[in-house]
Amino acid sequence: MVFLKRNSYKNNLMKILIIGSGGRENVLAWKIKQSSKYAKLFVAPGNAGTAEICQNIDLDIKDFAKIKDILIEFSIEMIIVGPEAPLVGGLHDYLISIEELRHIIIVGPKKEAAKLEGSKKFAKEFMLKNNIPTAKHQSFTKENIEQGYNYIDNNPSPYVLKADGLASGKGVLIIDNKNEAKRELKEMLLNSKFGEASKMVVIEEFLSGTELSCFIFTDGKGYVTLPFAKDYKKIGENDKGLNTGGMGAVSPVPFVSKDFERKIHERIIKPTMKGIIYGNLEYKGFIFIGLIKVGENPYVIEYNVRMGDPEAEVVIPRIKNDLVELFSTIKNNSLGNIELEIDKRSVATIMAVSGGYPENYKKGYKISGLNRRSESIFFHAGTKIDSDGEVITAGGRVIAVSSYGDNHNEAIKKSYKAIDKIKFKNINYRKDIGFDL
Ligand code: AMP
Ligand code: GLY
Repeated sequence: MVFLKRNSYKNNLMKILIIGSGGRENVLAWKIKQSSKYAKLFVAPGNAGTAEICQNIDLDIKDFAKIKDILIEFSIEMIIVGPEAPLVGGLHDYLISIEELRHIIIVGPKKEAAKLEGSKKFAKEFMLKNNIPTAKHQSFTKENIEQGYNYIDNNPSPYVLKADGLASGKGVLIIDNKNEAKRELKEMLLNSKFGEASKMVVIEEFLSGTELSCFIFTDGKGYVTLPFAKDYKKIGENDKGLNTGGMGAVSPVPFVSKDFERKIHERIIKPTMKGIIYGNLEYKGFIFIGLIKVGENPYVIEYNVRMGDPEAEVVIPRIKNDLVELFSTIKNNSLGNIELEIDKRSVATIMAVSGGYPENYKKGYKISGLNRRSESIFFHAGTKIDSDGEVITAGGRVIAVSSYGDNHNEAIKKSYKAIDKIKFKNINYRKDIGFDL
C-alpha cells in the first residue's frame, strides 16, 4: 500500500495561503471559503475580517524566508499573492528555487513578468513592441535630464510624469505648467522625490477620457477575461481632490458596449497575452489592465500584476466558478477547459475610510455596526482586533461594503444603506459612487 505524504492530497483538498491584508484579500478569502476544494485557509498578515473566517498568521510580507517557513510548516499547496510588492521583489522566483516548495501552486507572476507593474519603462516598451495602444512616451534619467527639459518644452501640456518604479500609488504627477513640470522632473531625478523609484522617469502624453479596469486570469497559456469594473480614485465627490487607492467600485461598466469590448479584446487583451507568451514571461496569475476610453478607442494607462482593490470587491463576487478550481489550472495549464460563469447582477462597493486619508489620519478607533443583519457584505481592509477583542481601525481604507443588485442603482442603494450602520470616529466615504453611470 502506498501512503500519500500529504493528507490533503488524498481527498484533493488544499491548504491555501493568501498574502496581504486588504479588502482584496478579504474578498479572496470569502470566495475561497465557498470552494469545495480547500482544506484549510490562512491569510498573512490578514485583518479582523479574515480572522473571522480563517486563520491569520502575523507576518511582514517582505520577509520571504518567513513565508517559506510558513509554507513548509503548514504544508501549504497553493499561495495567492495579493499585493504587487512581493511579486515585484521576486517572491515567486525565490519560492520555486526551493526544492521542497516546487509542487506549490503560486498565483502571481515571476519577477521578470512583474516588471509590467514594477517598471513603467518596461511596460511601455512591452506595449510598443506588441503594438498595444498607449500614450506616447519617453524615459529620462539624471544623465539625460536636459533632454527631459527639451521634451517638456517641445510638447503640449498637461505633462504626465511617472516614477519608473513602485511608489505606493503616488508616483504619477499630472502638471499643466511647463516650469513646474521641469521642477518636478528635477525633484524626481536629482533629489530622489520618490527614492529609488524615481531614478528613471517616464514622461507621457496626457490622454483625456474615462478610465476602467480590465482583469485577466491566466495559467500561463490560456486566459479568461473577468468582468470589467470602474474604480473611483479621488477622495472627494465629483472626482475632486487627492488620489486614493480607490473609494468605491462598480461592475459591470455600462459604457462598455459590445463594440468597445471587442476592441479591448482585439487591440489589448490578445496582444498582451501574445506578448507575454512569446516574450517567455511565464505569467501565472491576475493581470490588471488600467484602461482609458478616448473617443471610442481603448488605450492602456498601466499594467498591474494583481487584482485591483476595491475592484476585487465587485469583480470576485460576480465570478460563479470555484476559485480554487480556477487557480489550480496553473498546475497543468488546464484553464482552456474552464468556462467562466459570471453573475449577471451588478455589484457595487463603497469604501469607508479614516478621516484625513489619503493624508494623515489616526488609527485605533473602535468600529461598531458590523454585526447588524444586512443584505450587504462587509469586506475588511484596514482593521484589526485589539487586546480586548474589539475590532478597531488600522489603516486609511477601513471597510468596503459590497452589495448585489439587479441593476447598479439597486446595488449602490443597498451599499449606502448598509454603510450607514457602520460607525467609527471620523468615518468618511464618498456619497456619489456610481451616480455618474
Ligand atoms: P498609473 O499609476 O499609471 O495608473 O497612473 C495613475 C493615474 O494617473 C491613472 O489612474 C490616471 O488617472 C492618471 N494617468 C496616468 N497616465 C495618464 C495619461 N497618460 N493621461 C491621463 N491620465 C493619466
Ligand atoms: N484600485 C486601483 C488599484 O488597485 O491599483
